[in-house]
Amino acid sequence: MSSGAAAGPIFAEGEDCRAAWGEATAGYDEPDAHLEILGKPVMERWETPYMHSLATVAASKGGRVLEVGFGMAIAASKVQQFDIEEHWIIECNEGVFRRLEQWAKAQPHKVVPLKGLWEDVVPTLPDGHFSGILYDTYPLSEDTWHTHQFNFIQGHAFRLLRPGGVLTYCNLTSWGELLKTRYSDIEKMFEETQVGPLLQAGFRRENISTSVMELQPPPECRYYSHPRMITPTVLRH
Ligand SMILES: C[S@@+](CC[C@H](N)C(=O)[O-])C[C@H]1O[C@@H](n2cnc3c(N)ncnc32)[C@H](O)[C@@H]1O
Repeated sequence: MSSGAAAGPIFAEGEDCRAAWGEATAGYDEPDAHLEILGKPVMERWETPYMHSLATVAASKGGRVLEVGFGMAIAASKVQQFDIEEHWIIECNEGVFRRLEQWAKAQPHKVVPLKGLWEDVVPTLPDGHFSGILYDTYPLSEDTWHTHQFNFIQGHAFRLLRPGGVLTYCNLTSWGELLKTRYSDIEKMFEETQVGPLLQAGFRRENISTSVMELQPPPECRYYSHPRMITPTVLRH
C-alpha cells in the first residue's frame, strides 16, 4: 500500500487520468480496507464514520436517492439501512461497477446501477427525480482536482432534486489539500471555497448547513491528515 510520508502531491501538473480510468484495475486490497485505481488512493475504510454521516443526510428525505461514485460501498450500504424507495448509483470504473452489481443483489431496497462517467449519465436523468443526492467521486485530472464537484452541483444537482430534497457531497482529495496548505479551520474552508458555488447553483444560503465530526485519519493516509471532517446539508427550496 502507499507510503504516505514519502508520497508527493496526489496529481502531478497537467496529469489527466480520464481516458484510462474506466478500464483501469480496481485495486481493492486483501482486508478490503483500501481501493486504489491508477496508483491513486481512491477510498479508505477509516472514512467509515464520515461516509455514514453523508449517507444519513442523503437518505434523510426517503424516496429515491442518487449516489455518484460507489467506491467501497461504505456509504451505499448505509443508505440501504434507511427507509428509502430506490437507490440509483453511478460508477464509471469497470471493476468497481462489477462489485456494485454483485452488491446490489443483496440489498433490501431497489438498486439502479448506472455505468459510466456521471458527465455522460447525469444529463439523461429527469428533473426533480431525487429526494436525496450523495456526490462522492474522485478527481480524474489535475485540472478538476478542486472543482469537479462544482461541475456536478452547478450543472445538475439543483435540477435533479425535488423541492425539499437534499444534497450532500465531499471532495476529500481537495479538502485534505486545502486543510494542509491554506486553512486550519474546516468551517472557514467550507465557507470560503464551497458556499459561493452552491449559491451560484441556485441554493439559498439559509438552506446550507454543515456538521463537523472528529475523526483522526491514519498517518499513512496520503490525501487527508486533518482531524475533523465536514458534512454539508444543502436543501433545495
Ligand atoms: C471516493 S470513491 C467513493 C466512495 C464511496 N462513497 C464509499 O463510501 O465507498 C469515488 C468513486 O467514484 C468513481 N468515479 C470517479 N469519477 C467518476 C465519474 N466522473 N463518474 C462516475 N464515477 C466516478 C471512482 O471510480 C470511485 O469508485
